[in-house]
Amino acid sequence: MKLTRDARFSTICIHGGQEPDPATGAIITPIYQTSTYVQDELGRHKGFEYARTQNPTRSAVEANLAAIEGGKAGFAFASGMAAINAVATLLEAGDHVVVTDNTYGGTYRLFEQILTRYGLTFSWVDTSRPELIAGAMRPETKMVFVETPTNPVLRLTDIAKAAEIARARGAWLVVDNTFASPALQRPLELGADIVVHSTTKYLNGHSDGVGGIIVVARDEDAERVRFVQNAAGAILGPFDSWLVLRGTKTLPLRMERHSANAQALAGFLASHPKVSRVIYPGLPDHPQHELARRQMRGFGGMLSFELASFEAARAVLNRVRLMALAESLGGVETLICHPATMTHASVPAERRAAIGISDSLVRISVGVEDVADLEDDLRQAIG
Ligand SMILES: Cc1ncc(COP(=O)(O)O)c(C=O)c1O
Repeated sequence: MKLTRDARFSTICIHGGQEPDPATGAIITPIYQTSTYVQDELGRHKGFEYARTQNPTRSAVEANLAAIEGGKAGFAFASGMAAINAVATLLEAGDHVVVTDNTYGGTYRLFEQILTRYGLTFSWVDTSRPELIAGAMRPETKMVFVETPTNPVLRLTDIAKAAEIARARGAWLVVDNTFASPALQRPLELGADIVVHSTTKYLNGHSDGVGGIIVVARDEDAERVRFVQNAAGAILGPFDSWLVLRGTKTLPLRMERHSANAQALAGFLASHPKVSRVIYPGLPDHPQHELARRQMRGFGGMLSFELASFEAARAVLNRVRLMALAESLGGVETLICHPATMTHASVPAERRAAIGISDSLVRISVGVEDVADLEDDLRQAIG
């Protein structure tokens, strides 16, 4: 199965990095559930020695995601946080990182509560304003780490501008592309050096596996990440790799439906008298709607909205029937959550307030159900 150089995105998702199994011709890469490989003779083997270092199912998902993100190589990890932690090992004590002030709470916890103990320093800035990124750069800044759109207030960073600023200082631009997915946004094309994902979300897409991926644009970064992946060992297992591979085949279809459903729900919420604010990049009143149109090929499946009070938010969260009250996002089923006490509980209250995560903010990961059923559920829950 040879992909031509000009194969389009949906074709790459299905065929990128995929070959029929060499042993049987199976069209789907098998789950190579093994820890080791028998060698032909001393010093001669088939390219596989030990499964932390090489596993064909993991290699298949890594090649697939490298193709989907348009990178040189991909490396699959046991979780999104393991992938982000591995990216951070490119740094050395004394290095400084400029980070989006509104990243996933777990990224904040990893950077501030663990990595600062190893001599790294972090400046948390509103990267939706490029001048603030530029202003935060120091001689020892080695990385700019951006999440766009952010979770849960859906602020966007102009990736091309961030790349320009990072490149001028010889720093890596790393983009956490979990929220948009490569179906909507390909940061390497816009000048980023490294993309990370929690594959737990849209790439897997079916809420049945935890994982992470790093895709790099350059060979020298590939060498470093490959070394860290093997040396530190936080690899993605074969079955979870297989689940992500199953997921990426339908990524473009799912993202189209996620985006259409979210756009419709955002419109419904915006006209609801009990909803004081709707945050969705596809709404013309989103402060970065124009950037979203330029930088993304669809506005995604995540939206947030505010009610009058925490009590009102609590009532909606407890009354929904079809939507599931749960953390996480990006699966086919719709999830609803309360960022202040769930996904962002590890972020101090004053930082949450500064970012705009109020106690009355509700986040929805809009699934691919019939949108009329989702609207009915919200209507009865809001009352
Ligand atoms: C944007 C983003 N990055 C990273 C992570 C961490 O991924 P994982 O939960 O797979 O470790 C999450 C998890 O919610 C996330 O939303």
